[in-house]
Amino acid sequence: MGNGKAPLWWEREDLGYQQDELVFAGHSVSRLAAQFGTPSFVYSLDRVRANLERLHQSLNEVGLADRFSILFAMKANRFAPLLANLKQTGLCGIDACSPAEVELAVSCGFAPADISFTAGSLSELDFSTLARYDGLFFDCDSIHAIRRWGELKPGSEIGIRVNPGMGISREANEKLQYAGSTVTKFGVYREQFDEALAVAAEHDLTVTKIHFHTGCGYLTPQLTYWESILEACQWFISRCDNLSRVNVGGGLGVPHLESDQPLDLNRWAAVLKRQFGDSGLHIEIEPGDYLLKDAGLLLLGITYLETKKDTTFLGVDAGFNIAPEPAYYDLPFLPVPLVLANEESRQYHVAGNINEALDIWYEDAVLPDMTGQKYLALINGGAYSSSMASNHCMRGPFKEFLLV
Ligand SMILES: Cc1ncc(COP(=O)(O)O)c(C=O)c1O
Repeated sequence: MGNGKAPLWWEREDLGYQQDELVFAGHSVSRLAAQFGTPSFVYSLDRVRANLERLHQSLNEVGLADRFSILFAMKANRFAPLLANLKQTGLCGIDACSPAEVELAVSCGFAPADISFTAGSLSELDFSTLARYDGLFFDCDSIHAIRRWGELKPGSEIGIRVNPGMGISREANEKLQYAGSTVTKFGVYREQFDEALAVAAEHDLTVTKIHFHTGCGYLTPQLTYWESILEACQWFISRCDNLSRVNVGGGLGVPHLESDQPLDLNRWAAVLKRQFGDSGLHIEIEPGDYLLKDAGLLLLGITYLETKKDTTFLGVDAGFNIAPEPAYYDLPFLPVPLVLANEESRQYHVAGNINEALDIWYEDAVLPDMTGQKYLALINGGAYSSSMASNHCMRGPFKEFLLV
């Protein structure tokens, strides 16, 4: 891009090479790395906003204007400057999954009424903390949660997270599925649904929302199956008399490899229109990945280059602990050079600095000869990276910057 060469599959208007220099959100990435130091996450607010606006546009165009809300799943990225700026867009609320997330969202300007809470295995302290936030909407993930919330907030409205026994994911990655043929901890199954409704009624709770989130990373090829999941969830919807909302979770994916195509949002929105257009229900969507993942880069310093047997290792100054998704979920995290200095390409195993065998960022990455380069970037670093980081081997520290 901008250098006479064919663009690489991941290049786009705000991310790509200009005169052989990687440019992101109008900034030379080499300059960002030199200025901020490494490891650093950099996020583009413009890209997040564009992702959000694209979702709005697809739903508006399909005829669902004023019939939907987008709730950012803040588990994907809880960087406070980002949350505060998201609030300012007025384009989304928040999906929170712990009391601490609720508190952080509120501290960044979201009102409790902007927040939908969905989580499981809540302690007494969790319940009592959540109950202090009037206006917070609570999606119960179990019959236990319905009972406890009913004791704390009798007479209130709740959602019930259901489990249709069908899961979705990027490709057929079962690790990313939250429902499916194997029993998972998420939501209330058909077999227990009548009991769930009875417990709600006993506590004078009105069930006004059905919620489900069945997996992560789906792209266009999975849309047909996604529609069959929505169809299966109609069974739960049809059993509730006072519903005003349906929450279809998140899970919208972004391309990770050249073989992936971006999610066809027109087809995606058409599925929602077909399934819920005539229902009168307000539709909630709670994406994390789709809004943030491709809006962030992880900038790393190169520590060494060494060939061991037939494999050349490119060492970097951070390990899987600061962005564990590739290790946990086998998701590719593509390394890209900051400078296209060399025509000749080579294969590298990109290795982190953690004493664990799985601490390989990428195997057989095809990169230009990296001799003499100081930095490396990993694309798709905006979601489930910093938010999942740990201090393993005391290699926890990293920096985060929002490019506005
Ligand atoms: C209940 C719920 N909603 C939304 C999300 C966001 O999913 P994604 O980032 O895949 O869109 C998750 C992710 O785990 C979730 O558990």
